[in-house]
Amino acid sequence: MNRKTDAFAFDAETMARAQKIVARYPEGRQASAVIPLLDLAQRQNGNWLSQEAMDYVAGLLGMPQVRVYEVASFYTMFNLKPVGTYLVQVCTTTPCWLRGSDGIVAACKDKLGVGIGETTPNGKFTLVEVECMGACVNAPAVQINDDVYEDLTPETMGRILDELKAGKSPKPGSQAGRRGSSPQDAQGGPKEEGGDA
Ligand code: FES
Repeated sequence: MNRKTDAFAFDAETMARAQKIVARYPEGRQASAVIPLLDLAQRQNGNWLSQEAMDYVAGLLGMPQVRVYEVASFYTMFNLKPVGTYLVQVCTTTPCWLRGSDGIVAACKDKLGVGIGETTPNGKFTLVEVECMGACVNAPAVQINDDVYEDLTPETMGRILDELKAGKSPKPGSQAGRRGSSPQDAQGGPKEEGGDA
């Protein structure tokens, strides 16, 4: 499935979290914990799942290894090969596309100097295209690691990447000042160009 890497085992803190999750399920149903445990494994393993990490989870849950591979390869949240420190996931599904995701992809390519599916030579950024991430109410949206950035323009996208490059933590959420997912012309939200408000 992927290249051989070092042996994998949960550290003490992750193991304690894993045991809490497994304890939620009745005796004999521990396999139900496979998704949260794969998530823990991925976080401990630099944001990707090596075969050793998947085999470790299989052993912990008493599952055939192939069943763990099936789960890990089905869900796109699991990375089966190494990614950069920042995984930049640009949504290009219809609502985000209608709201300018082509310009967001172009801004990322331009700012990072890589194409879709590529990682910058310094290993800091991996750029990928994804399907709807459920943030279309504030499209276009981009997820970077655990944060979602919304109401993006090529300019705000570039600024966010610049801030990450500089070691800063750009504020997630609407980049246009929208409150939650309120209409654009609602009090406190950005004004729609050409609107009455
Ligand atoms: S279409 Fe992009 S978040 Fe839903």
